[in-house]
Amino acid sequence: MSAAQDSSRPPDNGPAGQPGPAGQPGPAAAGQSDIGAANPDELERFFEETVARDRRIEPRDWMPDAYRKTMVRQIAQHAHSEIIGMQPEGNWVTRAPSLRRKAILLAKVQDEAGHGLYLYSAAETLGADRADLTDRLITGKQKYSSIFNYPTLTFADVGVIGWLVDGAAICNQVPLCRSSYGPYARAMIRICKEESFHQRQGYELLMTMMRGTDAQREMVQDAADRWWWPSLMMFGPPDADSPNTEQSMRWRIKRHTNDDLRQRFVDMTVPQAEALGVTLPDPDLRWNQERQHYDFGQPDWAEFKRIISGNGPCNAQRVANRRAAHEAGAWVRDAAAAHAAKQARVSRRGAMPAGLRSEA
Ligand code: 3HC
Repeated sequence: MSAAQDSSRPPDNGPAGQPGPAGQPGPAAAGQSDIGAANPDELERFFEETVARDRRIEPRDWMPDAYRKTMVRQIAQHAHSEIIGMQPEGNWVTRAPSLRRKAILLAKVQDEAGHGLYLYSAAETLGADRADLTDRLITGKQKYSSIFNYPTLTFADVGVIGWLVDGAAICNQVPLCRSSYGPYARAMIRICKEESFHQRQGYELLMTMMRGTDAQREMVQDAADRWWWPSLMMFGPPDADSPNTEQSMRWRIKRHTNDDLRQRFVDMTVPQAEALGVTLPDPDLRWNQERQHYDFGQPDWAEFKRIISGNGPCNAQRVANRRAAHEAGAWVRDAAAAHAAKQARVSRRGAMPAGLRSEA
């Protein structure tokens, strides 16, 4: 339920309540409630109760600075991941083996751009500035998902990314549809619907290849060997080494821990691998009757740390490509801004009585 629908919510003071600059509560903090207007404890209590009752925090609601900061961090990193995530598969658009595969791949890569845009918009509702977020990405100050720093060596990688990477993304993101921040949760609903198509197209491509030649089956196995461990890393470090999980769970931003989601992904994926006829490259992978879950080995966490510090196999190339695309698009942004300014001038002049209009 949105905060606006909640009858127990203190009255909103209307247009004054716009989000403030990143990391700052907006004027709503002072004007959200007649009861709590001057009382930070009351505002904090109301925020905590809203979260505890599984209701949504909306952009004009008061929220603790740390909550706003965490949301901007997570949403921005997620948006960056979608945008950078266009590169590994985009690499195969011109080399797709048929028109059908090319159309599917183009649509998928375009969807990722759309996801990035919804997410940047969600970050803007918190007062973040999109140009600033882009700048943080292309100067390496903000992270994006580790998974997009590996190369895509064959067309089987496109299938395996759909199956494993989009599969892991769905596992991680479906619970985020119930995240406590309204605009993020709503963006995730649409994103997850599209991600499930992405996963299915990947699996369908792999099934086709597995029914093909020995060489095609070997390509699929090789791609699965390379992408399995990086896919497990997508869920983040083990809970014991995750500095943000505890607080994010308390604020119901995250609904499950990194390790819980990783386990869920493994349990979901092993039967899919068996149906495909692919072997997952983990000698410790086996069903545990007592736990009713698969046991599995740990990814190389030193490699994960190297990648999220910017030193993975493709980090420099991904960021350089993004920077080049941003710089090449400067004229589009300038043209859009000039057009918007002209439209604003025209509509101001239209609103003015004729005798007061300047001829300039
Ligand atoms: N890659 C890069 N950085 C990662 C990471 C990963 N796989 N996992 C964790 N990190 C970073 C965190 O951002 C955090 O960095 P910071 O504190 O410097 O900002 C640090 O490592 C510690 O990790 P935590 O577990 O404490 O961090 P979180 O509580 O934020 O959990 C997360 C990490 C599970 C990735 C969580 O942020 C999340 O669920 N984010 C939303 C989903 C998302 O961003 N997915 C990215 C993939 S997008 C995608 O898959 C597109 C699709 O089309 C395939």
